[in-house]
Amino acid sequence: MNILIKNIKTLVQIDNSLRSKASGKEMSELETIDDAFIYLSDGKIDKFGKMIDLSQLPELQNQNSYQTIDAAGGMVFPAFCDSHTHLVYPASREIEYIDKIKGVSYEEIARRGGGILNSARKLQEMSEEELTIDALGRLQEIARYGTGAVEIKSGYGLTTESELKMLRVIRRVKELSPLTIISTFLGAHAVPLDYKGRQEEYVDLIINEMIPVVASEGLADYIDVFCDRGFFTVEDTDRILNAGMKYGLPPKIHANELDYSGGIQVGVKYGALSVDHLEFTGEAEIEALLGSDTMPTILPGAAFFLNMQLAPARRMIDAGLPVAMASDFNPGSSPSGNMQLILSMACILYRLTPEEAINATTLNTAYAMGLSHELGTIAIGKKANLFITRPMPSVAYMPYYFGVNKVEKVILNGKVV
Ligand code: NIG
Ligand code: FE
Repeated sequence: MNILIKNIKTLVQIDNSLRSKASGKEMSELETIDDAFIYLSDGKIDKFGKMIDLSQLPELQNQNSYQTIDAAGGMVFPAFCDSHTHLVYPASREIEYIDKIKGVSYEEIARRGGGILNSARKLQEMSEEELTIDALGRLQEIARYGTGAVEIKSGYGLTTESELKMLRVIRRVKELSPLTIISTFLGAHAVPLDYKGRQEEYVDLIINEMIPVVASEGLADYIDVFCDRGFFTVEDTDRILNAGMKYGLPPKIHANELDYSGGIQVGVKYGALSVDHLEFTGEAEIEALLGSDTMPTILPGAAFFLNMQLAPARRMIDAGLPVAMASDFNPGSSPSGNMQLILSMACILYRLTPEEAINATTLNTAYAMGLSHELGTIAIGKKANLFITRPMPSVAYMPYYFGVNKVEKVILNGKVV
């Protein structure tokens, strides 16, 4: 049934010009309408405007033809787009978290066979059904916090069979969940133990065996590589992205989390849709990104959880770049998919204004999934993915009042979930 939401205190992030992303100074532009309504029809945004103009719309006079929701002073935002997660995973890893508190580094845990390899071992023992049920639970959880679209990566498989298992789970949750889901193949997440000292052979396996079958079964929208110190080199990344391009898999890559790895540059070279993490970003990296179509994506949850230096978001925006911010929801470096918390971290830790932070978590993350034509703003014809908040005094209250859920109702594809 179509839905009319009335008495909206502020309708946030409206967009009449159908921007594909916001860069530099544009990131502080956030259009709003006070005392607003929005009408959703056939799963799409049909019209919106001021409450006083509602009575003049003839098509809304027959109130039996649609459901009315009274926002009662709450605000309406476009649902968050979370462009980087690993939310299909087998089990939590709080034991490693305690090691990290005691001072053991992420890389040291990985060298000991923990980290990603720990998840890979456990994933092999789980069935597709079990993984699907757990992932659906996490999707429900993030939807309650206002996320309406999410990218999910493989990368806890690390054998052809297990990587395919993960990607099939992603395909299954895509069918079952009301969220919009994008799938990314991340065979190059870590080198499995049996390939220790033979990294190139593992890269060969990805190129010669995994990519062709992933592509032929249509299991992924994008390809990813963890291009960083102690993981995959620029040369490995170059080979993998090149193979991915041949099979029509555009890249979105993990880069510059642990060092000035060259990941940003190799991503830009292959026209990556996004490069993600970016703690080690200097002038050369900013220069490489300027003039490219690649979305620099920062993952505040991982930097916070691993106690890392922060990516220079402010410097990037001031240089004219766009910035997206996503959750990185995963059991090792960011066990949270709460995008409201990311919004607060964007402001508190990275010094983005609330307007910039909202663009970073809606429009720019939609771009980083290749979806900004249909998601990320309140625009006529876009998918009706939005949420209604509790009554709030201002838009800035959303990042300001951090740590609790301000979302009261979530609507995805024009239906209350
Ligand atoms: O994005 N940095 C690499 N990969 C993930 C972590 C995955 C894990 O530790 O399980 C990330 O932070
Ligand atoms: Fe990640």
